[in-house]
Amino acid sequence: MKEIKISCQGAGLASLDDLIIIQGNFKTLSKSSAEKLKNSILQEGFADPIRIWTSGGNMKKHNIIDGTQRIIVLKQMRDDGYKIPALPVDYIEAKSRKEAIRKIIALSSQFGDISIVGLDELMAAGGIKYVDIESFEQLTDGKRIKWSGPKGETEDDDEYSIKNIKAVVSDGDRIEINGHIVVCGDSTDGGSYPSGGVDLVFTSPPYNVGLKYEGTNDNLTKAQYLEMVAAVVGLCKGSMEQGRALAWNIGVSPKTYHGDQYNVIGSIGMEFYRQYVWKKAGVPVPSFYRTENKAVARNIHSNYTHEMVLIFSNGAMDHGGGININFKLQHDVFEIGKAGSTVDIPAGDSVSGDSNLDTRAAKGHPAVFPVELPEVFIQNYTAKGETVLDPFIGTGSTLIASEKLGRKCIGIEKSPRYCDILISRVVRWYRKNDISVKVKLNGKAYSA
Ligand SMILES: C[S@@+](CC[C@H](N)C(=O)[O-])C[C@H]1O[C@@H](n2cnc3c(N)ncnc32)[C@H](O)[C@@H]1O
Repeated sequence: MKEIKISCQGAGLASLDDLIIIQGNFKTLSKSSAEKLKNSILQEGFADPIRIWTSGGNMKKHNIIDGTQRIIVLKQMRDDGYKIPALPVDYIEAKSRKEAIRKIIALSSQFGDISIVGLDELMAAGGIKYVDIESFEQLTDGKRIKWSGPKGETEDDDEYSIKNIKAVVSDGDRIEINGHIVVCGDSTDGGSYPSGGVDLVFTSPPYNVGLKYEGTNDNLTKAQYLEMVAAVVGLCKGSMEQGRALAWNIGVSPKTYHGDQYNVIGSIGMEFYRQYVWKKAGVPVPSFYRTENKAVARNIHSNYTHEMVLIFSNGAMDHGGGININFKLQHDVFEIGKAGSTVDIPAGDSVSGDSNLDTRAAKGHPAVFPVELPEVFIQNYTAKGETVLDPFIGTGSTLIASEKLGRKCIGIEKSPRYCDILISRVVRWYRKNDISVKVKLNGKAYSA
């Protein structure tokens, strides 16, 4: 009999039949995704424990919180004649089914494909009135869940193959993809920047809200955080052409100190031009549950539904020649919709319509923004052939947007792991769009 290999350890073991699926239609699983998942299980074995919630202390009732898709696939594999041994599981703390369901939504919205019908069903089942999810870390404050899996594992469900992305990039490396350049380095260090020629800076710094980035402390004091902002904007300014724009995308959590950022950016000699508010399509970042749990005056934690893009110019704004306007900026409040963002997801990584996260890249990175966001600003603030700099380029959204619009992108990213993910994501984007792609690592051809 064909057998699958178990290649991880959990806090306990459970047989396939004791694992109860409580997600309903919440996560969709296409044929091609199921096939990919099966292949990854065959190649790597069962490599990550299933996260379960045992209701009322009944250790037999293993409600799956995270890992449903693998269980669906394993059941299919059993029907096809595979022997499925007892599976490693980790236990998730939750006081109630409702809390467990909230956690499913949190996990799935970050790492899975959400079907809106399934979401509705699940919310009704859990008595949940607010669609209040995006960031797992923020929902749980990083505290309420105990992870007892093997060391080095993260809560990333990662049922696809993001773990298989090869580690090729090291600190200091220079990546070139069809003429766009990404430096694996620190954007608080002047050595990572071009000496000039930048026509637009578009970026989204870490928001200082305690997300788990590789290699970045997202929990700085106010002074440290604002010092980082000042250092990066100062260095960007040194690379920018006179009269050109900096578009600084920020969240609005109190810990992002966005009110102070206006002054900090202004104090380095940048001139405030205007600001935009964009509403996230789909699910906002949760917060209101804190108010619901403690309904007293002045304990109001509205869900985070918007972000802001602050525009500054390097000296007085220099208006350029005619452009093909992107009408998204007709109003200073707009929504980033599903279409513009999800079309960038490589083939086979289908995502349903209610989230503007690129879920594929988000599996390996906690804060990927939709490609449509940089696209709107690049189109309106630069002309064809000009250069866009992103000093926090992450998984490469700004690079993809620049390529789509015929601009040249220069990016800086501190984490070698995110640079690896960037190469994989960007190369897949080119291939999906039938554009030939050449990658160079430190000047030498690299086959991605
Ligand atoms: C908010 S994320 C940007 C995500 C990006 N917009 C995307 O769509 O993938 C911030 C990124 O900045 C990187 N980062 C943080 N501090 C950095 C630094 N000092 N230098 C370079 N990159 C840094 C983090 O690793 C993270 O990838």
